[in-house]
Amino acid sequence: MASSQTELLAENIIPTIDFGLLVNGTPDQRSGMVQTLAKACEDWGFFMLVNHGMPDGLSDEMLEAFTALFGMSYDEKIPYMGGHVLDPIRIGTGFNYKTDLEKCWKHYVKIFVHPEFHSVSKPLNFRDISKDYSECARAIGLQLLKAIWEGLDMEERHVKEALKLSSCFQNLTGNLYPPYTNPDIKFGFVPHSDHGLLTLIYQNGVDGLQIKHHDRWIDARPTPYSIMVNTCDQLEIVTNGKYKAVLHRVLLNTEVARMSVATTIGPSLDAIVGPIADLLNTDYPAVFRAMKYRDYLEQQQSNSLVEKGALNLVR
Ligand code: SIN
Ligand code: FE2
Repeated sequence: MASSQTELLAENIIPTIDFGLLVNGTPDQRSGMVQTLAKACEDWGFFMLVNHGMPDGLSDEMLEAFTALFGMSYDEKIPYMGGHVLDPIRIGTGFNYKTDLEKCWKHYVKIFVHPEFHSVSKPLNFRDISKDYSECARAIGLQLLKAIWEGLDMEERHVKEALKLSSCFQNLTGNLYPPYTNPDIKFGFVPHSDHGLLTLIYQNGVDGLQIKHHDRWIDARPTPYSIMVNTCDQLEIVTNGKYKAVLHRVLLNTEVARMSVATTIGPSLDAIVGPIADLLNTDYPAVFRAMKYRDYLEQQQSNSLVEKGALNLVR
């Protein structure tokens, strides 16, 4: 292979984080992985998580439970449709492209699962599976955040207090992207960043997710049962822009349906979030103003903002 091609490929390899070494490794292994994680957050805002401890069977059960939910009749879904963006359960679709500004070819179910756990009553096993899945994903997400603060030399206690992380917000979203070939609709999900601190994504083996890296779109191709993690807007705000929220999008597949389960962990909805004081000094003043996360979430989910437009609200 020509050396320039080799360099291009090497440069575009999405980082892998070994969660096992982060939580159960020797002190040296942990600190090495903390540094790898810091670099992944700073250079990519995206990484593939392996040895994460989420049981393979639970991830599959979660996908199956979402499949059953999407398969329910229209009448059964009506109670959860058309609500406000802060309603704890929302079922929607990007199929009505006349009214949907985003022009996304997808169905979604969004459920708030922490600090208060919500669930649909049918399918019958949805509640138990989504509770186990959410708890496991939250434990992983909070461990990653702890390692992120460590990599930034931030006092964990300060961040936890500022973000009120003991009552952190978490949502659980199921996405279904049916195969589609209409050239007018390009995306399953248009380019956007997520509102929270970190999002963990598990997919059904069908690729389609892309992330923006150095002005180019890169395919995210996770190995089976790994979890993809992306940095979000609140992390960009808290770190005063050191870790940028990564732009990502989903391309459509013409033959098979893609499914993903995405869970975003954020500060408490009541936390007023701005850059953490530990990171600021006279040479490095705050570039974001503080805003209540609930208000940020509401604006960001309002469908009228493109790409990272919500961040302009706090600049
Ligand atoms: C998302 O951006 O929340 C969904 C990503 C995906 O479907 O992989
Ligand atoms: Fe996203």
